Amino acid sequence: MSRRRRIYEGKAKVLFEGPEPGTLVQYFKDDATAFNNQKRGTISGKGVLNNRISEYLMTRLNDIGVPTHFMRRLNMREQLVYEVEIIPIEVVVRNVAAGSISKRFGIAEGTSLPRSIIEYYYKSDDLGDPMVTEEHITAFGWAAPQDLDDMMSLTLRINDYLSGLFLGIGLKLVDFKLEFGRLYNEHGDMRIVLADEISPDNCRLWDVTTNEKMDKDRFRHDLGKVEDAYREVARRLGILPEGDVTEIRLEGKEGQAAS
Ligand code: TMP
Repeated sequence: MSRRRRIYEGKAKVLFEGPEPGTLVQYFKDDATAFNNQKRGTISGKGVLNNRISEYLMTRLNDIGVPTHFMRRLNMREQLVYEVEIIPIEVVVRNVAAGSISKRFGIAEGTSLPRSIIEYYYKSDDLGDPMVTEEHITAFGWAAPQDLDDMMSLTLRINDYLSGLFLGIGLKLVDFKLEFGRLYNEHGDMRIVLADEISPDNCRLWDVTTNEKMDKDRFRHDLGKVEDAYREVARRLGILPEGDVTEIRLEGKEGQAAS
């Protein structure tokens, strides 16, 4: 495992060469960053939980016909995914005002938005992921107009489906971030698929009755009980791995040492 070729290392995940051409192994770390890398830390067991949570959500999305890069989970911290050409755009969907939209427009956190709002950000750590418009995306060639149409319609379906799924377990899907990639088949045909991960790292999830934050905002704003929040999301989804926290931590550490 340690001799596998490392393709890319991001802030929360590592991508390794997969067992077959066209596949990659996505490894989930416990590392957490916020505010474009200015705040760094670790959330013990996060990689294990996000691997499970993302597996579950991507599988459900596949079931309703949303194409994704997910193939299968391999172990506690790794999943097999299709190798895709990542489109360098972060698609953010907002249902309720929080975070940067509250700051930018002076809207109180928790205010319901008149309708779901989609925003695009250009993926660049050096530039701090600036917000961009469709004009920038198509003029600079980051995505073609048809790619953007596909991304937008998939995003709306994902938002509808996940909002309902989370509401069913007492969580409000306040906002989230998606990434897409181009997947080519053997004939050279391309389709846009959901990539990256869906987890409390890139969603805001609030308890419907108490509005308690159950996501990475607990880390961003030092609210404490970060691990507990991720674990509670997994528990409500019905996918908490067998055994207690200690076991998750132990297996998590082994996984990390093995990489
Ligand atoms: P924001 O309010 O900070 O713009 O974040 C909106 C949503 O997008 C929130 O659920 C967190 C997620 N997000 C990421 O996953 N990665 C990022 O780099 C940023 C800025 C936000």
